[in-house]
This record gives sequence, structure tokens and C-alpha cells, in this order.
Amino acid sequence: MPKASTSMAAARPLLLFALHVFPLMLLVESSSTAACTPDRAVIFNFGDSNSDTGGLSAGLGIFIPLPEGRTFFRRSTGRLCDGRLIIDFLCESLNRSYLSPYLEALGSDFSNGANFAISGSSTLPRNTPFNLYIQIHQFIHFKSKSLELIAQGRRGLVNEEGFKNSLYAIDIGQNDLAGAFSSNKSYDEVIGRIPSILSEIESAIKTLYDNGGKNFWVHNTGPLGCLPQKLALPRKDDSDIDQYGCLKTLNNAAREFNTRLSSLCDELSSNLKDATIVYTDVFAIKYDLVANYTKYGFESPVMACCGLGGPPYNYDPNNQCGSSTAQTCAEGLKYISWDGVHYTEAANNIVAAKILSTEYSKPALKFGHFCNA
Ligand SMILES: *[C@@H]1O[C@H](CO)[C@@H](O)[C@H](O)[C@H]1NC(C)=O
Ligand SMILES: *[C@@H]1O[C@H](CO)[C@@H](O)[C@H](O)[C@H]1NC(C)=O
Ligand SMILES: *[C@@H]1O[C@H](CO)[C@@H](O)[C@H](O)[C@H]1NC(C)=O
Repeated sequence: MPKASTSMAAARPLLLFALHVFPLMLLVESSSTAACTPDRAVIFNFGDSNSDTGGLSAGLGIFIPLPEGRTFFRRSTGRLCDGRLIIDFLCESLNRSYLSPYLEALGSDFSNGANFAISGSSTLPRNTPFNLYIQIHQFIHFKSKSLELIAQGRRGLVNEEGFKNSLYAIDIGQNDLAGAFSSNKSYDEVIGRIPSILSEIESAIKTLYDNGGKNFWVHNTGPLGCLPQKLALPRKDDSDIDQYGCLKTLNNAAREFNTRLSSLCDELSSNLKDATIVYTDVFAIKYDLVANYTKYGFESPVMACCGLGGPPYNYDPNNQCGSSTAQTCAEGLKYISWDGVHYTEAANNIVAAKILSTEYSKPALKFGHFCNA
């Protein structure tokens, strides 16, 4: 609050002023994080479509046409979104370029890291492309190849020091849970699988640690039961619907997964000497978006922007976004869900801002903390 205001009359305009300069203050704040010198702000990311910046498209040679990418890039980028993903906003916050997919042969820039995330990936089964285990081994290959080329005099690649100081980000698990539910497993059976999913994440973090990584950034899984794709499945009645219109069973499974993921992060933080593991509660952020959607300017919290069928969910498995029969809403800004599974750029922007606030992170470290470590 501005000090030295002596009357209410004086305080009002000052308060208004303070609200207006707030975004500027945030900018100043983030550019001080951008004290991340270019060679230190290196990020390696692992995960699924929540953070795939074009890996599936490159890896399988799939063209993902407009309207994907219509909002910001105005072209196909391989992202399953109308625009930027959370990871894109996080890179922007450090004034770094977006992460090139590891599998993108042409036009890639790996000077500030690489993205191993691939849409559709899960943790299990571990040897199936492009699940987490494969992504981690692609990273090991990438690292040894980088160091080999640097030794031959190649420039513009991450060096040994860069690998050591970089951030290793992981956002995975959603497809493991979703896959278990869609193969008709009961709630208890899905919960029974959580330990083996987490053991994959644990072994991924340990492998990265054994390869010199020490800064980890782990996103928990979002509210699966608020996705239009899940809500559009036929159901007997609405007894499983919560006060915000989401499916309780699916969300409870996600919560259970998250509780245990949080404990795993605590355990690894104390067991891995000199490692910093930040666990971020993306579930809380996304659930708040759905619950308090009007506050964020959204009009339809559980309806997809791109799809078919209209309210309440605008999701039809036979006419999904990307098919010639799907229709796209005029204003993505009014929607949280882009295609029934993935979030709109508008939603991702808010989620990223909340992640950057550190309020949802444990420990409450800034995203750029690793650059100055
Ligand atoms: C952001 O990066 C660009 C290009 O690397 C550089 O020219 C610019 O000075 C950077 N800005 C800040 C605030 O660090
Ligand atoms: C799951 O159950 C539904 C409804 O009984 C059925 O239509 C579907 O084929 C089943 N899916 C699998 C993978 O068994
Ligand atoms: C909705 O917003 C209120 C006020 O900020 C907050 O207390 C509440 O936790 C939010 N609801 C959810 C589900 O996050």
C-alpha cells in the first residue's frame, strides 16, 4: 500500500493507481528473475500433451491443423491447444524461447533445453514410446550426444555445467489415470495402480539426479473429472456430479494421486542430497478456475470451445476437435476447455500466472530460482 495518504479522498485515487501499476510491478519482478543469464536458464521438460510443444507431430509425422494454434501462433505448431501451453508461459517468464521438441529434426534450437513431452504419454507401460521411461532415456542420449559434439567444438549446445544447473520439469500421470478409467477399472483398481505410476516418476527423477540433475519442478495432475470429454460419457444419473459440475470419482482419484505424489516429492527432497524438488498444485489452480470461472472471465467452465454437440459439454467422441465436422467457438477467451481434454490458451495463461506466484508451490520457490542457484 502507498504510504503517506492522509485522507480517504487521497487514498482512493492512490489505490486505483496502485491497482494500475500492479501489472508493471509484476513485469519488473519477472525481469529480475530474468537475471537468469542465457546459459543458465536451461529447461528439460518431460510429460504428455499438457506440455507437448510439437513432439507427437514430429515423432509420428502427424499434421495437427488449424484451428489448433489459431490464437497466438496462427499456424499449426503441434500443440493441442488454440495457443500457448503452460510451459510456454513459464519460458516467457524467464525471457527464454519456447522449448523445441527433442524429436523435431528441423528448425530446433536446443540452446535453452529440450522438450521430451509427447501427447498421449503415460508412465506405464514403461517401454512403450513415448512414455516417461523412454523420454528419460531420450534425454540421456541427448545429453551424451551434446557433450560429444561440444568436445568436437560444436557451439550453441548445453554443456556439462548447463545440464547440472538446469531445471528438470515433469508433468505426467493424467493419461495413466484416464486410461485406467476408460478401460473400465473400478475406483479401487485405479487407486491400486497409483504406487506403480509413482514408482515410474520416482525412478525418472532418480535417473535424472544420477545424471547430474538437481533442480526439479513437478506438476501434479489436474481435475480429470472436470474435463468435458469425461463429463460427456453416458452416466446413470448425476449422483457423481459435484457442486461445480465435475465428476467426483475421477477428481478423487486425481486427488489421491496428488497426495501421494506430494509425499514422494518430500521423500525425494530429503533423500537426494543437494536436490531441490518443487511440487506445484496444478489441481488446485485448475479446479479454482472451474469453480470460480466468472471471476476469471470465463462463461462456460465445462464446455469445450472446439467440438460438436453444443451445451452442456460440446464434446462428441466421433466429432472431436480436429475432425472436419467439429466446430470452433468464436471466442476462446470465454472457455476453459479448448477441445474437451486440453485447456485454452486463456486458461493456460492464468494457470501459469498462478504457478509463477509460488503460492501453489512447495517449497515456495520462484520458477526461475534455479538460474541463480
Ligand atoms: C530477453 O532476451 C532478448 C533476446 O535474447 C534480449 O535481447 C533481451 O535483452 C532480454 N530481456 C531481458 C529483460 O532480459
Ligand atoms: C467399458 O464399458 C462400457 C459400458 O459398459 C462399454 O461400452 C465399453 O466398451 C467398455 N470399454 C472397455 C475398454 O472395456
Ligand atoms: C473460489 O474462490 C474462493 C475465493 O477466492 C476461494 O476461497 C475458493 O477456494 C475457490 N474455490 C475453489 C474450488 O478453489
